Amino acid sequence: MTNFDKLPDRRKNIMFTKWTYYPKGVLPMWVADMDFPAPKPVLDSLHKVIDHGVLGYELPHNVLKETVAARMDHLYGWKVKPESVVAVTGIVTGFSVAARVFCSVKRGVAIQTPVYNEFHEVKKNVGIPQIDIPFVKSVNGNILSYEIDWDVFEKQVKKAGIFLLCNPHNPLGTIFTRKQLARMAEICIKHKVLIVSDEIHSELLLDGNTFTPMAKISREIEKHTITLIAPSKTFNVPGLFCGFAIIPNKELRDRFEAEVNRQRIHVSSMGLHAANAAFSGKCDGWLRDLNRYLTDNRDFIVGYVSEHMPSVRTTIPDATYLAWLDFTQTEIVGSPYEFFLKNAKVAASEGKIFGKAGEGHIRLNFGTSRALLKEGLDRMNKALNSI
Ligand SMILES: Cc1ncc(COP(=O)(O)O)c(C=O)c1O
Repeated sequence: MTNFDKLPDRRKNIMFTKWTYYPKGVLPMWVADMDFPAPKPVLDSLHKVIDHGVLGYELPHNVLKETVAARMDHLYGWKVKPESVVAVTGIVTGFSVAARVFCSVKRGVAIQTPVYNEFHEVKKNVGIPQIDIPFVKSVNGNILSYEIDWDVFEKQVKKAGIFLLCNPHNPLGTIFTRKQLARMAEICIKHKVLIVSDEIHSELLLDGNTFTPMAKISREIEKHTITLIAPSKTFNVPGLFCGFAIIPNKELRDRFEAEVNRQRIHVSSMGLHAANAAFSGKCDGWLRDLNRYLTDNRDFIVGYVSEHMPSVRTTIPDATYLAWLDFTQTEIVGSPYEFFLKNAKVAASEGKIFGKAGEGHIRLNFGTSRALLKEGLDRMNKALNSI
């Protein structure tokens, strides 16, 4: 069993953004990386490169593409050819490339809001319209859930060049069902909208939940989908900047790859080695332990909020290490992010960066030890009680 209670000191030697952006004394629970070391096979693969001593150019080779394809088969029985795999420097790079190639000023990017802040940047970065498809929020006791309004979905998505799906969803933690995915895809295909499915959180499954890639649902959907995956969230190597676009449709892939080449997007050798080790299967025991620990952290938050902060609402995420908390029924005036930064010295992610519906909410990163998580919640609870 991996001991996730024991954390390295992240303020020592390396300027980690999560731990150095805010002054000392502030507990960082914001940007999506975890406080745990990467699994040993990943670290060993990096040591091997360092120990060689020569840090030369290394392009993504076939062995790595075979590893990625084998992982899709192993996890989901999804058979993809290694040649369908295109290495990119990350998922944000991947969907930005897709938007440049497949959107236009007439047909922009459709996103389901609230959603990961970088989804909102595509519009400006690529110079295309953003089409929002708001979720419908519902509340049961203090538990939040978000549903799709299918009429709104169709009305909005049909204006787009790409539908940028986030599954599992950041910040809501939802895993969409096969039925929901099939319905989304059917509507997209009917209106000739390309699906770009960001599945970066797909292996961070809580409570033994299962996951189905959008493109695995049917060969027809696969033809209309670009799937984006990466080892970065699951195995905690986001600083190595390595991700993959899986594009079985050759015509789409050629266009995507041409843009990757035009922009000269190259993954570092360290990223490629880490990905190969992460996806090799050698880290799966570590991952099982991690998902158990994260499930307990999630349950700890939901229990803590219900018991000590009953005016706060929370999601129960199916996946990810991100909680979504709603403070609109509390006595906090203005932004809860600013309130907790000032009064609790806890840095969460500001809800409104995920879209307008995120006002009055925060996203809390629980990819840390139980002790630090409790410390953060205790600080927040104390600040709330002092109003
Ligand atoms: C849904 C989602 N997509 C993409 C990313 C970032 O991916 P990358 O660092 O590979 O660009 C994140 C990071 O938080 C994320 O949550």
